[in-house]
Amino acid sequence: MALDILISSDHGGIKLKSILVSHLKTNGFNVGDLGPYEAGASVDYPDYAAKLADEMQQNNFKGILICGSGIGMSIAVNRYEWVRGALVHDETTARLCREHNDANVIILGERIIGELTAISCVNIFLNTSFLGGHHQKRINKLRNSKILM
Ligand code: RB5
Repeated sequence: MALDILISSDHGGIKLKSILVSHLKTNGFNVGDLGPYEAGASVDYPDYAAKLADEMQQNNFKGILICGSGIGMSIAVNRYEWVRGALVHDETTARLCREHNDANVIILGERIIGELTAISCVNIFLNTSFLGGHHQKRINKLRNSKILM
């Protein structure tokens, strides 16, 4: 069965990851869980952001990333030019990141957001379309921007 969505976290997001994996599977999604799989082991968020970004480069999946605050994952995954990752805190930002920004990765902070809000945000993220129009022009500008080193 083809994958519908990828998910990964660091140790700070592993509990919320397993809640979201169960929720998505129960609702018929085929979820690619990129780990980590062992609760308690300390891991580094850039490694798991990279795993998800690499998979997304091969295939056109959407992704979910979770760490303690969401900030580390957000910084890490937005270094990949094919990713538009949105750190989301509520239903409004979950909707807007799709409608205006065509976000392809939703990022959540397990220590910040409640479980029910997180589930609701993921549902909205997966069911909301990009509005296009004048927003597309801005996405094109992101695509054309260069990282200056
Ligand atoms: C891990 O303790 C924590 O620093 C990490 O999950 C994340 O919040 C970093 O931004």
